[in-house]
Amino acid sequence: MIRVLRTRAELRAALAEAERPVGLVPTMGWLHEGHRSLMRRARAENATTVATIFVNPRQFNEAADFRGYPRDEERDIGICEAEGMDIVWIPETDEVYPPGFDTSVRVGAVAEPLEGAARPGHFDGVATVVAVLFAAVGAEHAYFGQKDAQQVMVIRRMALDLALPTEV
Ligand code: PAF
Repeated sequence: MIRVLRTRAELRAALAEAERPVGLVPTMGWLHEGHRSLMRRARAENATTVATIFVNPRQFNEAADFRGYPRDEERDIGICEAEGMDIVWIPETDEVYPPGFDTSVRVGAVAEPLEGAARPGHFDGVATVVAVLFAAVGAEHAYFGQKDAQQVMVIRRMALDLALPTEV
């Protein structure tokens, strides 16, 4: 039975007793086959699997795009459960960015061309939220779609430079 958790404290408590290694699949919900295949890979390679569903306001350039982003929590939880995930963390914004949060993670050259040029600040938002998710979950492994190749390179650089112990 999947555990649906909302707060950092609940997540920390659940992971304190979890079997290692832990595999993390960060998502913004609206799950599709790509996410499912990441979940299957995470399951194959880890004793405990965690998916996160958080529509990250910091990576949207337009507030309207953030508001209009498709959300269907019940369906997404069903998919996580069907894929055998142990935990799904669905935090409110304050759990990810507590009041007073005032840090931004900015990756250099790899984040500048292409998507980074077309959407200024987008990769700062991605790198910042992924750093918080990595710290909150403390997984050994994390899984991201290869389709967003530049995003994967940005996240790898960030995790390496900040010496985060999660392998991408
Ligand atoms: O690829 C995504 O869905 C998002 O950019 C991510 C990595 C979950 C960060 O919000």
